[in-house]
Amino acid sequence: MDDGADGYTPSSKYACVYPPCVERIAAEEGRRHKSARDRDRAVRNRLYQITGAYSRTGQAARQFERGLEDRLRALDDSDPIEWCADSLRAHASTRERLGVLVEFYGFIGSVCSRASTIADYGCGLNPFALPLWKPAGLTRCDAYDADTRSIGYANALFRRMGLPESARACDLAVDTPRGVTDAALLLKLLPVLDMQISGRGIELLRQIASPVKIVSFPLSGLSGTERARRIGGTAARFERDAAESGIMISESRRVGTEMVYVIAD
Ligand SMILES: C[S@@+](CC[C@H](N)C(=O)[O-])C[C@H]1O[C@@H](n2cnc3c(N)ncnc32)[C@H](O)[C@@H]1O
Repeated sequence: MDDGADGYTPSSKYACVYPPCVERIAAEEGRRHKSARDRDRAVRNRLYQITGAYSRTGQAARQFERGLEDRLRALDDSDPIEWCADSLRAHASTRERLGVLVEFYGFIGSVCSRASTIADYGCGLNPFALPLWKPAGLTRCDAYDADTRSIGYANALFRRMGLPESARACDLAVDTPRGVTDAALLLKLLPVLDMQISGRGIELLRQIASPVKIVSFPLSGLSGTERARRIGGTAARFERDAAESGIMISESRRVGTEMVYVIAD
C-alpha cells in the first residue's frame, strides 16, 4: 500500500539525512498533499527546518569534510580552545556559542564532572567541544543525530580521542535509543523535535533514564522579531510543561543566547 512516501528521493542536498527520517517525513507530507510536486516541496522545507538550516552545504561542507583528517591531527589536548571554536563554527547551532564557549562548556563540564558515559542527543557538531570540557574519566560518548555527516564526523573525532565510535544515526522524533549513560545532553533539541511531532521533546526527555540530563533552549527571542519571540518562548513553555509532567528542574542558568536546565535525580 502507498504510504505517501512512494517515489520520493531526496535531492543531493539532503542525501545526508538518515533515510528512515526522510521516509517518515515523506509519508507524513504524502498524506497531506495530493500532488507529488506539493509533497516534494513540503518535504524539502521540512528537511531544511530540521537539519539543513544548521549545517553547511555544498563547497563549505566539502571543505570541512576534506580537512577533517588534518583538523583531527591538529588537535592539541593541552590547549583546545581555538581548535574547538574553529570546529564548532561549522554548524549554526554551536556557532551561536562562540562568544561564551568557556562559560557554556565550563558549566556543562561542572555538571557532568563525574560522568564516565555521556549521551549527546541531536548532537550536530557539539562533540567537537568535548576536548574543552570532557570529564576526566570519560569512557564513551553516545552521539545521535539524523544528519549522517555529523555522525561520521563525531566517530572520526572519538577515534582520535581514543573513545569508542559510538555515534549513531537515529530519528529521535520516533525512536528512543535504549542505552543509559551517566549524563545526557539534549541541547537545543526539544523545539526541533516538537516541530516534527508535538509533545515529542518532553516524551523523549522522560524516556531517557540517565540520572543527569541537561536540556537547553535558544533565547534568540530577545531580538524582537515574531520568529525570534516564538523561539524565545520555548524555554518558558518548557518550564510549564516540565512542571506539569512532574519533571524537576534542579538548576537553570542563562549562558549567552541560551537557557540551560539541569534535571538531576
Ligand atoms: C538546533 S540543532 C542542536 C545541535 C546540538 N545539540 C547543539 O546544541 O549544538 C538540532 C539538531 O537536531 C538534529 N535533528 C533534527 N531532527 C532530528 C531527528 N528527528 N532525529 C535526530 N536528530 C535530529 C539536527 O540534525 C541538528 O543537528
